[in-house]
Amino acid sequence: MTLALSKLHAGYGRIEVCREIDLVVADGEFLAVLGANGAGKSTLLGAIAGSVVSRGRIELDGKPLEGLNARDRARHGLALVPEGRRNLFSPLTVMENVQLGLRLLPAGDRGRTLDELFTMFPILATRRAQPAVLLSGGEQQMLALAVALARRPSLLLLDEPSQGLAPLVLQNLVEQIGELRRMGVAVLLAEQNHRFAAQLCDRYLVLSSGEIVDGGDGNQLQDAEHVAHAIMA
Ligand SMILES: Nc1ncnc2c1ncn2[C@@H]1O[C@H](COP(=O)(O)OP(=O)(O)OP(=O)(O)O)[C@@H](O)[C@H]1O
Ligand SMILES: [Mg+2]
Repeated sequence: MTLALSKLHAGYGRIEVCREIDLVVADGEFLAVLGANGAGKSTLLGAIAGSVVSRGRIELDGKPLEGLNARDRARHGLALVPEGRRNLFSPLTVMENVQLGLRLLPAGDRGRTLDELFTMFPILATRRAQPAVLLSGGEQQMLALAVALARRPSLLLLDEPSQGLAPLVLQNLVEQIGELRRMGVAVLLAEQNHRFAAQLCDRYLVLSSGEIVDGGDGNQLQDAEHVAHAIMA
């Protein structure tokens, strides 16, 4: 499934945050959108997911999504993992959170999907009866991913998963997100941490004050001084 944005503008009321955004995420591709605080990363992901008002074109495999609400876009294969793991209900258990994600699937697919998620994130299986609030930051990020993956999306919109996590936990997360490649899930990753993104992404774009100002191949990201500058510009 290919996502294509053209001339997308997004914002809040009269405040326009993202301007003239053109981007493509090809089937199974991992694209990073890098930017500093306030660059407009979450606004962009929200516009794609349908939770932020936008104008311009958003197409999935050539079909326009603009008229659809967030729920219908999810049915078409998009899933958002919001910043700060906000898709979790902290008093609910791990299992209950995952079950909320599974609700969008046909009943016959739920058992198999749950098994796959617990295989991918074994720690969640052992913690299944615990309230989400008692998990560590890294475990909560895994749960946030699992809840989004429970819908079997084709494209995962991933908003700053690295936020607040220790280096060792990040390494684990890189491997788990990397697994999605094998599953054929495409990823649009919004990040400030370009070294984290470098380990995952095929390509990157830099967003600054709501506009795309730079971009290139993922392998240019590792020690890219200019990328760090572009992000901070
Ligand atoms: N609900 C809102 N109403 C009005 N303005 C908002 C709202 N949410 C965000 N903004 C503004 O939009 C701009 C971009 O914010 P956004 O959250 O998209 O940036 P970001 O790149 O995700 O930043 P961060 O790295 O801090 O998460 C900021 O100036 C912010 O103040
Ligand atoms: Mg953000």
